[in-house]
Amino acid sequence: MRRLTAPSAALALTDVTAGYRGTTVLRDVSLTVPHSSIVALLGPNGAGKTTVMRVASGTVPATHGAVSIDGGVVTTEPPHRRAEAGLCLIPEGRGIFAGLTVRENLTLYLPPGAPASLDRALGTFPEVGKRFGQIAGTMSGGQQQMLALCRAWIARPRVVLLDEVSMGLAPKIVDDIFGRLHELAADGVALVIVEQYVRRALDIADVVYLLDKGRVRFSGAPSELDQEALIGGYFGHES
Ligand SMILES: Nc1ncnc2c1ncn2[C@@H]1O[C@H](COP(=O)(O)OP(=O)(O)OP(=O)(O)O)[C@@H](O)[C@H]1O
Ligand SMILES: [Mg+2]
Repeated sequence: MRRLTAPSAALALTDVTAGYRGTTVLRDVSLTVPHSSIVALLGPNGAGKTTVMRVASGTVPATHGAVSIDGGVVTTEPPHRRAEAGLCLIPEGRGIFAGLTVRENLTLYLPPGAPASLDRALGTFPEVGKRFGQIAGTMSGGQQQMLALCRAWIARPRVVLLDEVSMGLAPKIVDDIFGRLHELAADGVALVIVEQYVRRALDIADVVYLLDKGRVRFSGAPSELDQEALIGGYFGHES
């Protein structure tokens, strides 16, 4: 894998253009995710947030520009190679196997040396460990999200992309999950969060990117952003 000479980030997109079947969705998108940081990717519906995550994880190709993980260029690499390089995507809808048990979900992709990381993950998500025999699809939404996070952490990734982790969950559960995200970032994993709860996302983010119509409109610290204008006007709703 070719390596960049610039200081490496956990994930970087450089001047990415991408879309679907001849429709360009992202234009010149550059995004840098420093190691162990939390990056919030915000923007209105249809802005291209999920598409950014697909380009990063390799399910949508970049027609122009570059993607790198931990300093290695992966622009033309398939999704499984990007997973090996340390990227993990938790898609909208959680990406767990609903028909399998919790144990099966956790052991399916157990990498070498995993028992230690399984123990660590279960230390952060003890409720998952108590439900080993349960069919994953029969758990509550919050429990399924915890399982998805737990599964991601067992692989000990460099960067985890979370697309609307709070979708369909009660605010109390969302607060709980956001607390764990902080813990996990402190453990050395970079996170990219796409989130409808804008205020919660800004509270935990080190860096925020604002995407609109496929272009980056703002990037910087949450404190540099006019949050009231953003929440009240830009998104047209309170969060
Ligand atoms: N599989 C697809 N095929 C064709 N067009 C798509 C596909 N997925 C997304 N798009 C289009 O790309 C644009 C960006 O969509 P995307 O899902 O990335 O937005 P988003 O910011 O994640 O929106 P939301 O907040 O609603 O999840 C939209 O116009 C959408 O219709
Ligand atoms: Mg989306």
